[in-house]
Amino acid sequence: MADSVGSRTPEARRDTVRGAAAAYTDPSSAHGSVSRGRFLTGATIGLGGLIGLGLGVPTVGFALGPAFRGEEWYWVDIGPVENWKVEEGGGYTPVTFTRTPDGGDLERRVAFVKRQKEDVQDPEAFVAVSNICMHLGCPVQATARGFACPCHGGQYDTAGERTAGPPIRPLNRFETKVENGHLFVGRVFATKVEGSGDNRRVVITDTWKDPGQPVQGLLSFLYPAPPR
Ligand code: FES
Repeated sequence: MADSVGSRTPEARRDTVRGAAAAYTDPSSAHGSVSRGRFLTGATIGLGGLIGLGLGVPTVGFALGPAFRGEEWYWVDIGPVENWKVEEGGGYTPVTFTRTPDGGDLERRVAFVKRQKEDVQDPEAFVAVSNICMHLGCPVQATARGFACPCHGGQYDTAGERTAGPPIRPLNRFETKVENGHLFVGRVFATKVEGSGDNRRVVITDTWKDPGQPVQGLLSFLYPAPPR
């Protein structure tokens, strides 16, 4: 039988050898190429994860931090109870005080204070309404019909319930107590409306939220209250 290779010319044999070399793939080289690819993919994912953690942890901490941070507070003496007389339909007196003993301008607060009952030990003897508008936080002013906000026209009645404009809830109230014949104000709390008709009234809650954040309804769950 004739040798088919031996019958070919030297050029043809060289071409055959070159072709075989080109078609040959070193298994170890192929394995090394896949490993590099996997390594680079893994490294990219890992680096991306680290960057995500680096950005995400501070962001989440900034968003949720206030929900876990309490606030120091104090009872502040705002004067003898005789400074206020029981009056029907209004009768608020603006009182400016500093919320903490060594507080500066940033700790200054304004409450509109009204006496509703002669018995000063009655829990509802005094009402101390915050002057912070529940739309965006402008200072409200007392009017003959309640309170008015100069910023966007928010209106409240004498109980602090919103009657017109963009505010979403009644004005906050300070907790009060009477000791040794003096009236004290403490923490400020959100309020809500209870009842209907003649029984409708604004009541203080045990929670606090920023202006614009609801305290009732489904949306209130989107704004967790910080601890007091
Ligand atoms: S801040 Fe009071 S109505 Fe907008």
